[in-house]
Amino acid sequence: MSWTPSSWRNFPIKQQPTYEDQALLHRVEEELASYPPLIFAGEARRLKEKLAAAGRGEAFLLQGGDCAESFSDFNAKNIKNLFKLMLQMNMVLMYSTGKPIVKVGRIAGQFAKPRSSDYEEKDGVRLPSYRGDIINSIEFDEAARVPNPKNMLKAYNQSAATLNLLRAFSRGGLADLNKVHQWNLEFIKDNPLGKKYDELSNKIDHAMKFMAACGLTSDMMPQLHQTTLYTSHEALLLNYEEALTRKDTDTGDYYDCSAHMLWIGDRTRDLSEAHIEYFRGIQNPIGCKVGPSMGEDELIALIEALNPDNEEGRLNLIVRMGASKIAEAFPPLLKKVRDAGKNVVWTIDPMHGNVEKSSTGFKTRNFDNILSEVEQFFAIHKEHGTIAAGIHLEMTGNDVTECTGSTSCAITDEGLASRYHTQCDPRLNASQALELSFMLSDAITEA
Ligand code: PEP
Ligand code: CO
Repeated sequence: MSWTPSSWRNFPIKQQPTYEDQALLHRVEEELASYPPLIFAGEARRLKEKLAAAGRGEAFLLQGGDCAESFSDFNAKNIKNLFKLMLQMNMVLMYSTGKPIVKVGRIAGQFAKPRSSDYEEKDGVRLPSYRGDIINSIEFDEAARVPNPKNMLKAYNQSAATLNLLRAFSRGGLADLNKVHQWNLEFIKDNPLGKKYDELSNKIDHAMKFMAACGLTSDMMPQLHQTTLYTSHEALLLNYEEALTRKDTDTGDYYDCSAHMLWIGDRTRDLSEAHIEYFRGIQNPIGCKVGPSMGEDELIALIEALNPDNEEGRLNLIVRMGASKIAEAFPPLLKKVRDAGKNVVWTIDPMHGNVEKSSTGFKTRNFDNILSEVEQFFAIHKEHGTIAAGIHLEMTGNDVTECTGSTSCAITDEGLASRYHTQCDPRLNASQALELSFMLSDAITEA
């Protein structure tokens, strides 16, 4: 079957806005299509190689960031704090596992959100759901919820500026291994976790001094003063993704140049629908969420549709079952894929299967459930002789109170109210994410 960047339009599609002004939509699509790509195809190919290494157990994928980026929270501090948190987690994981960590942010394009209901009801008033800032606005009034095509232009510009800053941080000195102490975030410096991180930083300092004494300093070795943070998002709004799809002049292949890696959500992975059609034609590394409703034969068919050449590093299956379901639902899928000889990169998203409502009425996730799902994921892989290749988290470098539990900051149901800032799902705060990294490094080392 022939594929084009727009062939998805011939298939049924879920979770899309209905734009009233089609002429405006077309103008926006044309404008976006004339803009420069945000990433270069060569970078996406490089990430694919790194993911292939993760799939073989030679590296580990750390993917994380906001559930949803927003226009209102767009500032340098938020970007910098997430970048620093990624560097800290990278250091914890790299030091304990001795493996390179592939860092991929849910950032610079993570704007469109699938929703469990098309409508939201409050005090008897029913409005269309909020679908992310690239589509409509979060305020609970009629006008705010009308999808506006122009939001796509704003999302593109915000993504470009975000990516620009990330590239500057990566290359400009902030990631220098002589600065490991400075990555510690202000609000965790003094808690036991901050101290634990400081101890690790001291060891790295010693190693750096030893190497400098040998004549190897960071200014002569780019590996020691630079890093790479790749970008990713759920490619949900296909009008936007199509407009940023470009033919690579080197290879003649198509790439979605809105991010290095894109994934398909658990609600839009139907084999006969538009998202599968779009994704099969782009050559970026891609992900697909695997929730508890996934069937064994369905998964094999999905792998064959998305990765017909069984290419390593092409397909990341992001398991998100929930702590109470993974033990039953995941092993049959894993066995089937293993026995079929399919090359996939298995990672765990311990966030989306563990959503609950707190006694105080907040949408939250409990740290113990998150940790439990991660631990079970590793144990199941160990039992099957397969590779747990990475983790996918919703997290922020800021001091928010959105997920309950953890020993480092112990947020209670009552405590959620104090700094509950998320635009969509509850995120781990920096302290919880760092705590998870320390626990994760034990699990990886054991595996
Ligand atoms: C998400 O990653 O934000 C998301 C909506 O996940 P899922 O598709 O797994 O529900
Ligand atoms: Co989410």
